[in-house]
Amino acid sequence: MRHVSSAFLVASLAAIATASTTCSVDNKCPESAPCCYNGVCGVGSSCLGSCDPLMSYSLDSCTPEPICKNQTYSFSNLDDSILWDQYLGNSSQYEWTTSGFPKVENGSLMLTMPNQTTGSLVTLNNYIWYGKVSAKIKSSRGGGVVTGFILMSDVKDEIDFEFVGYNLSSVQTDFYFQGVENWTNEVNAAVSPGDTFSEWHTYTIDWTPEKLEWLVDGVVMRTLTKNSTLNATSGVYMYPQTPSRLQMSLWPSGLTTAGQGTIEWGGGLVDWNSEDIVKYGYYYALYKEITVECYNPPEGTTVKGDKSYIYTSDTGLSDQILVSGNSTVLYNLKDTGLNMTAGKQTTASSSSGTSNYESSSGADATSTGFSAGSTSKNAASSSFSDRVTQGSFLAALTAVIFSLL
Ligand SMILES: *[C@@H]1O[C@H](CO)[C@@H](O)[C@H](O)[C@H]1NC(C)=O
Ligand SMILES: *[C@@H]1O[C@H](CO)[C@@H](O)[C@H](O)[C@H]1NC(C)=O
Ligand SMILES: *[C@@H]1O[C@H](CO)[C@@H](O)[C@H](O)[C@H]1NC(C)=O
Ligand SMILES: *[C@@H]1O[C@H](CO)[C@@H](O)[C@H](O)[C@H]1NC(C)=O
Ligand SMILES: *[C@@H]1O[C@H](CO)[C@@H](O)[C@H](O)[C@H]1NC(C)=O
Ligand SMILES: *[C@@H]1O[C@H](CO)[C@@H](O)[C@H](O)[C@H]1NC(C)=O
Ligand SMILES: *[C@@H]1O[C@H](CO)[C@@H](O)[C@H](O)[C@H]1NC(C)=O
Ligand SMILES: *[C@@H]1O[C@H](CO)[C@@H](O)[C@H](O)[C@H]1NC(C)=O
Ligand SMILES: *[C@@H]1O[C@H](CO)[C@@H](O)[C@H](O)[C@H]1NC(C)=O
Ligand SMILES: *[C@@H]1O[C@H](CO)[C@@H](O)[C@H](O)[C@H]1NC(C)=O
Repeated sequence: MRHVSSAFLVASLAAIATASTTCSVDNKCPESAPCCYNGVCGVGSSCLGSCDPLMSYSLDSCTPEPICKNQTYSFSNLDDSILWDQYLGNSSQYEWTTSGFPKVENGSLMLTMPNQTTGSLVTLNNYIWYGKVSAKIKSSRGGGVVTGFILMSDVKDEIDFEFVGYNLSSVQTDFYFQGVENWTNEVNAAVSPGDTFSEWHTYTIDWTPEKLEWLVDGVVMRTLTKNSTLNATSGVYMYPQTPSRLQMSLWPSGLTTAGQGTIEWGGGLVDWNSEDIVKYGYYYALYKEITVECYNPPEGTTVKGDKSYIYTSDTGLSDQILVSGNSTVLYNLKDTGLNMTAGKQTTASSSSGTSNYESSSGADATSTGFSAGSTSKNAASSSFSDRVTQGSFLAALTAVIFSLL
């Protein structure tokens, strides 16, 4: 099911709130706002994470992607995370970027979706270029409520586990190549004993250059071989093959403004007076014991360093990815992949005592994709760099998004 994620909703707000420049493969971004982020051109945050190199001004407009890291993640707090629109690309400093209303409960990451909101999204900042990713998950429940555990690349290769809250006895497995939709890619996997909401089950994506497996509690439920995805016309394997980030999400498919197909897929409209909303004030999903095991890059890959992945051609295929020593970190939120430290010189000569975040918080003619931040900041009328106010900032942002839906 092609769907909208929380990140997409946030970016849509940027498009709605400003007469911003949109982008696609045939309509790349201008040099002044070179980064294509969910269809909108911008700088700073737009150049990190979901920045699509194939739709941006040039392949190096998006920042290099932090390389895969073997790691087990546990949650006692969210100190390792940062709001998606404040992250500068240092994945050693912040493991996760967030939007919405995540929290920690009993040592688990809890994504929540309070009444009338679009839920939560937590993304791992290091990319995975083939590897094995696992988590114990308790999904949310209810028609129109979707829990996600997916790998997503910047050119929209995607590998999914999706829990649709009206059927707690199964999980959907799905994949995309460069965002191309094909209904036959979606396959249900039965989950037992118990159900996906009440019981912890372990969900694993095992992804190699040759084949892709979805496992539940260690049992292979589905296998996709790369060979089976050959498009004989183009000679291209329509197989997920580019560096991808782990995204965990809780979002509403059942909004009156969604397409009819999306509403039906998710099992109808969200009930905002459900048991969980009445009792807790939110829908919720739980994740724990998240492990990432990195596999080696495909044979024949050019390796020039150990820091980042870089796209070297506009095919978006795995044989055009380079492992580099290039930095992944922007100096501030006005910088782009074209000159990742341009702000350093500017800041040094024109201001003192101004933090990286603050120096980028003003509305800027070129920061079209990022002006969602400015808009919602006004709505929240709070200091952008004050961590204490981030909850209300996000609440305001989400409220604004919701009122626009
Ligand atoms: C990587 O770094 C080299 C050397 O600084 C630079 O010439 C090149 O443009 C960088 N590549 C990207 C994609 O940022
Ligand atoms: C990234 O963060 C780490 C840990 O906070 C720090 O040691 C490192 O210098 C930072 N790297 C850059 C390029 O800012
Ligand atoms: C956390 O643990 C407490 C005590 O065992 C329990 O009552 C509560 O339901 C747990 N929370 C979740 C979200 O499972
Ligand atoms: C969907 O995928 C199947 C199996 O690979 C293929 O036979 C079919 O042509 C595809 N359909 C579309 C509309 O792309
Ligand atoms: C729920 O999923 C199970 C397992 O795939 C399937 O057998 C059942 O028909 C589904 N129920 C509904 C209501 O779709
Ligand atoms: C995939 O196809 C290639 C070329 O036909 C073949 O050499 C290879 O053994 C196949 N791989 C698998 C895993 O089936
Ligand atoms: C195969 O590639 C051709 C040419 O790029 C494209 O038109 C067609 O839609 C592709 N087939 C499938 C099933 O996606
Ligand atoms: C959720 O919000 C709607 C609209 O404000 C309201 O009608 C409904 O009563 C709320 N649900 C709960 C459980 O408070
Ligand atoms: C991750 O661990 C595996 C062994 O489990 C090892 O082969 C691989 O080189 C490691 N990768 C990285 C990036 O550390
Ligand atoms: C980056 O921008 C700064 C400030 O404008 C400039 O001094 C520097 O030469 C630029 N670096 C590159 C590699 O273009």
